[in-house]
Amino acid sequence: MRRKKYIIGNWKMNGLAQDLQQIGEINTFCGRNDSVDSAICPPVTLISGAAQVNTDITIGAQDVHHNEAGAHTGCLSAAMLKEAGARFSIVGHSERRADQGETDALVAAKAKALKTAGMNAILCVGETLETRDAGNAIDFVTAQLLASLPEEASSKWLTVAYEPVWAIGTGRVPQSADIADMHAALRAALTDRIGSDGDNMRILYGGSVNGGNASEILTLDNVDGALVGGASLTADKFLPILEAVA
Ligand code: 13P
Repeated sequence: MRRKKYIIGNWKMNGLAQDLQQIGEINTFCGRNDSVDSAICPPVTLISGAAQVNTDITIGAQDVHHNEAGAHTGCLSAAMLKEAGARFSIVGHSERRADQGETDALVAAKAKALKTAGMNAILCVGETLETRDAGNAIDFVTAQLLASLPEEASSKWLTVAYEPVWAIGTGRVPQSADIADMHAALRAALTDRIGSDGDNMRILYGGSVNGGNASEILTLDNVDGALVGGASLTADKFLPILEAVA
């Protein structure tokens, strides 16, 4: 199964209007290269500005509420994000699991809410250093994925992102063999759960990906792209990652 590589930038809580020009430069690259799928998840305040002018790159959100509407001060529904121009949202990022106490069940509900609104989901999983050091990383992440995966999961609208918590923003990347082992285990868990479509589902790696390490990581078996934080904030850092696969 040939899965097209998918490189997504997660800007987290970074970016003001002046930074939209970075997305413009990345968009220009995407207009000239269709060998890689690319997306940026700016903060919500920039989604509409980014989506209106950049039609060659997909714009996504970083989080979504699991309900369609209601008394949830400060939250945003899938329909709102879609109307602003987002085509998908990240769900279950480890920063939200840690900071907002998001559970696997909530993450599954958020993914389902995206599907209901006709949007796609990027579902994040990953272990802490403690779990890795205890030798339980594969068991933990596999269980986390299966518990966070909504029943209606399909490769048509859902992508998985494996992001070891200890690799995020630290400059530390797992050994290539460890990434490959994890992705193989997640692939097996997916096909076990959803059948042959599990082979079509993209599994991204995230955690300190940059222009220097992208080509090694992105050629590993079952690594179908990258979810990039720090190195996605400027075009000069992000484009070398796209070039590594384009
Ligand atoms: P860094 O690329 O900054 O390590 O962040 C990864 C990440 O959390 C993307 O969602």
